[in-house]
Amino acid sequence: MRDWSERHRLAGRRVGFVPTMGALHEGHLALVDEARRHSDVVVVSVFVNPLQFDVRADFDRYPRPIDDDLRACADAGVDAVYAPTAAAMYPPGFQTHVEPGPLAERLEGEHRPGHFRGVTTVVAKLFAAVRPHVAVFGQKDAQQLAVVRRMALDLDLGIEIVGMPTVREPDGLALSSRNRRLGPEQRAAAVVVSRALRSIEESLRQGTTDATVLVRRAAEVIDAEPLARLEHVEIVDPDTFEPVHTVDRPSLALAAVWFGEVRLIDNLLLSTG
Ligand code: PAF
Repeated sequence: MRDWSERHRLAGRRVGFVPTMGALHEGHLALVDEARRHSDVVVVSVFVNPLQFDVRADFDRYPRPIDDDLRACADAGVDAVYAPTAAAMYPPGFQTHVEPGPLAERLEGEHRPGHFRGVTTVVAKLFAAVRPHVAVFGQKDAQQLAVVRRMALDLDLGIEIVGMPTVREPDGLALSSRNRRLGPEQRAAAVVVSRALRSIEESLRQGTTDATVLVRRAAEVIDAEPLARLEHVEIVDPDTFEPVHTVDRPSLALAAVWFGEVRLIDNLLLSTG
């Protein structure tokens, strides 16, 4: 992978990178399009990273349709797919990790212990292999994007990190590889996540700025759906991910909701005025 990248770098081409865990959907293809806007050649990695799963069953059940993924990459004009094995990424004796800071401690970090340490470690390794000039990440994983941005800055990686808005189904459900694990009834119910976040936006527009009230209303929307189990809904500062008490400046509403054994996350940037 590094030789391939080096050849393009020496020829003066910019290398764009989209790291993924496969099960590619339109959201990933939007990341590929964005990467192409910033570079001359585009690499997609497909690697289901065991380090970032806190629950073994979730890792085992994560979809791995590699043939479909390769076809989707070819159709999208991706220049190279990097799909290392777990044995190549983490050979016996592997022991070095990238430890993220406080940004990774709340929300996803709190509910999925070790998750972001797994993400930063694998992303650092993928960056070392792909040697991109620019890497594109989805804003659906807003905290991941912030943690990776921080890592690139703190470790002087010299890689431009670009965030891409969430791609949604027509009913509002954010695209995610996990959506394909939902049964038909769960899929229909899952729309409640974006609806709850929109309810926050709507209440804010009507003048409610108290985050506790806004969050309670969103929780009620989710609780009204029998197939949904709310894990958390919060309003935070989009830079620090610390809780916001009064929404009087741009803030981020985030939710994590379970449908059976499938955990979905989504977020919405709230603008004021
Ligand atoms: O967002 C993902 O798919 C993963 O967390 C990533 C960035 C590919 C690291 O494994």
